[in-house]
Amino acid sequence: MGRAQPPTSGKYIPTVPILIAQPAATTPARLNGTIAVPGDKSISHRSLILGALTVGESTVHGLLEGDDVLATARALRSYGADIQRGDDGVWRINGLGIGGLMAPSDILDLGNSGTGARLLLGLAASHGVTSIYTGDASLRQRPMERVITPLEQMGAKFAAAPGGRLPITVTGTNRALPIEYRLPVASAQIKSAVLLAGLNAPGQTTVIEPRPSRDHTENMLRHFGAEVTITDDDDGARRITVTGRPELRPQNVAVPGDPSSAAFPIAAALLVPGSEITVTGVGLNPLRAALFDTLRDMGARITEQNRRDDLGEPIADLLVQAGPLKGIEVPPERAPAMIDEYPVLAVIAAFAQGPTVMRGIAELRVKESDRIAAMVTGLTALGVRVEELPDGMIVHGHDGPAPANPGVLIDSEMDHRIAMSFLVYGLAAQGPVHVDGCDMIETSFPGFADLMNILGGRIGAPA
Ligand code: S3P
Repeated sequence: MGRAQPPTSGKYIPTVPILIAQPAATTPARLNGTIAVPGDKSISHRSLILGALTVGESTVHGLLEGDDVLATARALRSYGADIQRGDDGVWRINGLGIGGLMAPSDILDLGNSGTGARLLLGLAASHGVTSIYTGDASLRQRPMERVITPLEQMGAKFAAAPGGRLPITVTGTNRALPIEYRLPVASAQIKSAVLLAGLNAPGQTTVIEPRPSRDHTENMLRHFGAEVTITDDDDGARRITVTGRPELRPQNVAVPGDPSSAAFPIAAALLVPGSEITVTGVGLNPLRAALFDTLRDMGARITEQNRRDDLGEPIADLLVQAGPLKGIEVPPERAPAMIDEYPVLAVIAAFAQGPTVMRGIAELRVKESDRIAAMVTGLTALGVRVEELPDGMIVHGHDGPAPANPGVLIDSEMDHRIAMSFLVYGLAAQGPVHVDGCDMIETSFPGFADLMNILGGRIGAPA
């Protein structure tokens, strides 16, 4: 990705790469082919963390080598874990055992990664070492008191920047207390922080979540040999209990393709008329894959092939065919299972017939950016009618190619998913779309533009 001047203003000095996405020059401009997307980000973080807590060698195939996961690998090395990438692309981890983290000699910079920061703060809380965490400008804006509150109850001490933000110094304890903690929001990051802290606490640590969130931590803990029990209450809440101080056993992890990354080529294939693509090996954990149910409700043709299972995580190849879509009201209770997919859904909605109503997603305001505001601002600038709600948005679709007002430069707001969403928009819109801050795509989807172009897309630096 090269640096380039923006399309409109001579005064602007670009500090980050700009990409332009436009409908393919071929007639018809359809997308075609078979691709695999990089490994699942959530599972990649967790495989490194659990490998680092296990004595003996664990291997990870298909690890996402994006900036976020690499930051987690660096932090775990600072705690003393031996983590190597072989020339064969396989990652090998020789861990320290639960309780074995050593004091890092430098500040731990988690870059853009909320998952890395929150999960590692949990881990650090129940080890008797002091660590200092920071991150990039986006991560330093994100709320951390959501993990500090339960981890303080377990006995860790925190000194945070105003508003409970990074940088944070955490002084962990080797005598952590097991707790029962009810999450204020359905968040896999808070849940995982508490469960990971509970690994080095005597007895049982329980998290109660109002609605089930992604359960990769629970699945992988069981796979590595920890005792985890899960019960569902009548009111929809879920209770997860981990028994502390287990003897974890080394594992061979094969990371499925990230459904949140697959969402981008799938969206493009649905929107560019005549397209037909297959994305192989996509993770379809039911607590992650609700976007695909929502798209089917909108009329999308998405067919699962070769369904299989690995590590307790369902996987399939997805065949996607373009076709007309209709707007719907997205059931708010689906939100935790598609929380990262609303930006690209908002793009898809702009091409559908009628309004698409998305509510119950206030959590989007504290992601890598305020994703509701970012989508409303960008779509409005391009010419789409969007209503902003405190906890969501309503996108009025164009029943075909959506407008692309010229002279607009979309700001990714340091958010990889905002950047990719608007690039997908540009592949199918009435004209080209320019997006600033596309370097953030490296956090989760290295090679995104190339992969889209292999399918027949046209994403590149503006001339
Ligand atoms: C993640 C959980 C989600 C999600 C994030 C990854 C995880 O965040 O948005 O991209 O790997 O646990 P929350 O737990 O804050 O909802």
